[in-house]
Amino acid sequence: MNPALNERAPFRKETDHPQAVFVDATFGRGGHSRALLDELSADARLIAIDRDLEAVAVARELASADPRVTACHGRFSEISGILDELDLVSVHGVILDLGVSSPQLGEARRGFSFRTDGPLDMRMDQSAGLTAAKWVNEAEESEIRGVLKRLGEERHARRIARAIVLARPLTTTRELAEVVSRAQPRGTPGKHDATRTFQAIRMRINDELEELEQGLSAAFSCLTIAGRLAVISFHSLEDRKVKRFIRSLSQAPPLPRRLPVRDSELPVPGRRVAGPIRATASETRDNPRARSAMLRVVERVT
Ligand SMILES: C[S@@+](CC[C@H](N)C(=O)[O-])C[C@H]1O[C@@H](n2cnc3c(N)ncnc32)[C@H](O)[C@@H]1O
Repeated sequence: MNPALNERAPFRKETDHPQAVFVDATFGRGGHSRALLDELSADARLIAIDRDLEAVAVARELASADPRVTACHGRFSEISGILDELDLVSVHGVILDLGVSSPQLGEARRGFSFRTDGPLDMRMDQSAGLTAAKWVNEAEESEIRGVLKRLGEERHARRIARAIVLARPLTTTRELAEVVSRAQPRGTPGKHDATRTFQAIRMRINDELEELEQGLSAAFSCLTIAGRLAVISFHSLEDRKVKRFIRSLSQAPPLPRRLPVRDSELPVPGRRVAGPIRATASETRDNPRARSAMLRVVERVT
């Protein structure tokens, strides 16, 4: 669980509602869900969603032990359809804790990490979509270069994309990591670091930015008045999208000059509650991945 969310309690007021309905739309291993359940009344409900089948299996176990929990397999961009199927009209809070989970990164067979050797898979949802191997082996060099640049902010995108194409077919994470390392110029700081390439390919395989864009709007639309959406992001590309989204909800577009109304007097759908909140030093000590976590919270007002 990310301690940043635990200690800053973005849902403090909503959890008091006796029949509150919350959605943990990135269940993972349920750290946030369990912390919420501790705060919720016996009549509340928690809908646990994840696109990863192993995460959903853990959510189902939790659901069999706690009648307040409903486990669902799906993407957070599909939240409205998931809630419709459960006959839920609106909810008091939604959490999006973006990116990969520690178990996904830690299991070599999932193919997310360049530190262990496994098949080049990287799909969060093991039941659907293109594997990283298929994409890496079939994409045009220009597409690979664009993805490394845009999603990995990789300075050596051109050299790495060229090297990937020349080394094909690639089937394992170690093969890809070695190609990335060899493609970086001598003397590059952190030369063996394939973090940016792996991040970019993972984001492409799971359509992460598109999911985030659709998921933010979908989750906000499901909120009841005074309901809150809390989002934890782990890098600037994601955080920028979250920040802009919250700004677009909480600030009216500028009006032409000389109108007798100020922008600030116009009704807006959302209110920025908090953010960016970063993990404290002690939280980062307990959970090093929290180092780059940023929490932002928006409340629905109309
Ligand atoms: C950082 S982890 C969440 C960890 C979780 N908060 C916990 O306490 O264990 C992110 C999780 O979100 C899931 N995920 C990522 N994108 C998703 C999406 N678009 N829809 C549903 N689940 C998603 C991943 O499969 C992963 O399990």
